Parts: sequence; C-alpha cells; structure tokens
Amino acid sequence: MQKKNHKVVMLGTGLIGTFYTMCIQQSRSNDHVHTVYSRTGERAQKFAADWNIPHYTTDMIEAINDPEADLVVIGLPNHMHLEIVEAAARAGKGILCTKPLGRNAAEAKQMLDIVEKAGVFHGYLEDLAYTPKTLKATKSIRNGAIGRVTWARSREAHPGPHSDWFWDIKQAGGGAILDIGCHCIEISRNFIGKDVRPLEVICWADTLVKPIEAEDNAIGIVKYANGAIGQFEVSWSYRGGLDIRDEVDGTEGTIRLDHFLRAGMEMFTAVGEGEYIAEKAELNTGWLFAVGDELNALGYNHMFADMFNSMDKGQLPMESFYDGYIVNAIMDACYKSAKSKQWESVEIEDWRGSNEMQGKIQIREFDESHLLIKEELLPDGRKKIILKHKQSGRISERVM
Ligand SMILES: NC(=O)c1ccc[n+]([C@@H]2O[C@H](COP(=O)([O-])OP(=O)(O)OC[C@H]3O[C@@H](n4cnc5c(N)ncnc54)[C@H](O)[C@@H]3O)[C@@H](O)[C@H]2O)c1
Repeated sequence: MQKKNHKVVMLGTGLIGTFYTMCIQQSRSNDHVHTVYSRTGERAQKFAADWNIPHYTTDMIEAINDPEADLVVIGLPNHMHLEIVEAAARAGKGILCTKPLGRNAAEAKQMLDIVEKAGVFHGYLEDLAYTPKTLKATKSIRNGAIGRVTWARSREAHPGPHSDWFWDIKQAGGGAILDIGCHCIEISRNFIGKDVRPLEVICWADTLVKPIEAEDNAIGIVKYANGAIGQFEVSWSYRGGLDIRDEVDGTEGTIRLDHFLRAGMEMFTAVGEGEYIAEKAELNTGWLFAVGDELNALGYNHMFADMFNSMDKGQLPMESFYDGYIVNAIMDACYKSAKSKQWESVEIEDWRGSNEMQGKIQIREFDESHLLIKEELLPDGRKKIILKHKQSGRISERVM
C-alpha cells in the first residue's frame, strides 16, 4: 500500500475536535490538519497556534473548500452533520463524521446516500469500536474463543455532557441514548457480528435527574437475527467519572472490559496537582482513576490509522457511514419503544448484511438416549451431570 500524506480540514475546536487534532498532529505520520474552522476568530487562532495548524478560519465553507485538503473531519454538534456532509461531498472531499451520524435514521440515510452518490471516501468516527481492548476482544470472538455470542452488554455512564447544545433536544436530537447509547450499540454490533440483522428493540428511558426534555437514563435490549441480544445501559447522571464497561457472553466463554475507571491506574492525592485527570473526572483529589494514554485507551489512534489506511487503499474503513446509519435506525426503534413500552422493530430500508436466522439451542450428546445440559464439580469433589432424555424430555441428574 502506498501511504499518502493527507491534509485534513478540522471542523470544530471543542472536546472532540481537540482529541482528533491531538491524535493527528501528535502522530509521526505525514498526515496533518491543514485548516481548522471555529465559530470565533479568537478560538480558531489559538487552536491553530496550539496545534501548529497553518490555516484557520471562521468561514466553514471556506474551510471545507481548502484546495489543498482532501479530507474533512466533522467535530461539530449533531444538528450540523447533514449540512456539512452535503457541502463536503459537493467539494469532492473524503468525509469522516463523529458519532452519532445523524439525529435520526432519516438524516443518517441522507448522509449515506450523499457520500455514495458523490463517490467520496467516508468513515464513521466510532472510537470505542477501536480501543485496543475492543479490537483484541473482537478478534478473539472471531477466532471462536467464546463460542457463539449470546449476550453483549455495553455500558456508558457519566455525570452529563460538557456543553449547552447536548442538553437541547433540537440540536442534539435526543438525550443519553443518542449521545452515548450509539457507542454501546455499535460495540455490541462488533461483538455479535455486523452482518447479523438487528430485528427489534425494547427500551426504557426516563428523565430522572436533570430538568431537560430528553432522557438522562436508559436501558435497551436489541434482539439480533441469530438470537443474540445487545444490551445497552446509559446515564447522564452517574456520579464518579466516565464509566465505560463491556461484557460479552458466549457459549464457550466470557469477556469483560473496563475501558476507563479502574483500567489499571489508581492514584490517591490529598492535595491534587491542578491538572486535567481524565475525561469527565469529577474531582482532582482523593482516589483518582487517571488514564495513562487517553487517545489510545479510547481508540482514537487506531481509528484514525484505519481511516487513513483505508482511504489510501480505496476501501471502506471498519466503521463507515453505513454503520452510523444502522446505529441510528436501532436508536429510532429505541425511542419508539420507550414511548410505546412495546418491542419495536428496527426499520432498515437498506439492509446489506445476512438475512439468515440461526438456531439458538446448543445440542451436546451425552449418550444414545440423553443430551447433556450441564456438568459441574461440587465443593466435595463429586461431579454432577444434568441430562435430558431425548424421547421423553425428562430432566435428570447423575452424580459421578
Ligand atoms: N467519543 C466521541 O466520539 C465523541 C465525544 C464527544 C463528542 N462527540 C461528538 O462530537 C460532536 C461535537 O461534540 P463536542 O464534544 O466536541 O462538543 P463541544 O461543545 O465541546 O464542541 C463543539 C464545537 O462546535 C462549535 N459549535 C457549537 N455550536 C455551533 C454552531 N451552531 N455553529 C458553529 N459551531 C458551533 C463550538 O464552538 C465547539 O467548537 C458531536 O456530534 C458529539 O456527539 C464524539
């Protein structure tokens, strides 16, 4: 593969624009942010100076049309994603869009159609599918280490977002489900298999704490065509920092991941040091859960490497706009279910994966007339075996 040197237009200088820029500018590759857009000249100028970016502007269209740049990175609020995708595709640029792709599936589908019609490179910046732990877990699952995945549980909880627009349902499009449930849903899809169709959803969502219109807490269950379920739990009122954990259960094993709190570094300080600790950390004294390398721990480095490499190879990255669209379609069903209190089907007008429905039960022969349900070694050393008679269906146990 011939590595090209990409020149990037960074749209947004907030939290995610900063993480993305750190990632690109601090790497030793030849990819660089060439132009940065911010709403105010002061912020644009400071950001450009801080990160050694040659051009800055407060004119978004001028930024997108930077003649030297070949890639536009969208790090602006959710309600702006669609109009930016339109403008960037018109300019013939590759486009990387942060999560969630759209405020709903209709918006996301429009974005997918736009990039495909324009024939431009597109990537969905879902960093949590790229954390080193998630990539390793996904590989182990694909290698058969935990058998057939039956249940993927993904949790993201924190004390609430850091900017006004997240809390305004018109700009954000939703609350905790749209903001962080999108991560959990895509993590589960990676574990269960992106080729497996999400069928239906049941979801509880409520506004428990904050004086807002959108939900600040939710739980959802997504049922997939192979019988697996993806469970997500999200909160904007969790106290204690950024809690990101996953668990995947399979017929032959289990994987647990802790991405942030208690991820290996614990520090007690009575006095603090006056520095940033970690995203959404609430305190800077006492027991603290710092993260050695946040860009790596949250998958940003691996994600950009895949994006740039895929662009060079002329192929889709692991996370594309299509994935963003599927996640939005699942979240639409969640919002419907939270209202109806019923299972709601996931409406996907353009499903490109498998339509196979697989059997759910694992058959293990014990002898000619019995199936094995389970065996267990008891505390006193005896082994117990639970059996089902093939003809009568009678369940029995034997102590060996
Ligand atoms: N892990 C992740 O992938 C992750 C994390 C955080 C945010 N995000 C996503 O990134 C996007 C931006 O979030 P953020 O956390 O950086 O938000 P932020 O509030 O920190 O930054 C938003 C930026 O957009 C600018 N902005 C706000 N309203 C604007 C408007 N009307 N016109 C022009 N500029 C405007 C702000 O000045 C700021 O530069 C959102 O879509 C969010 O969901 C992704």
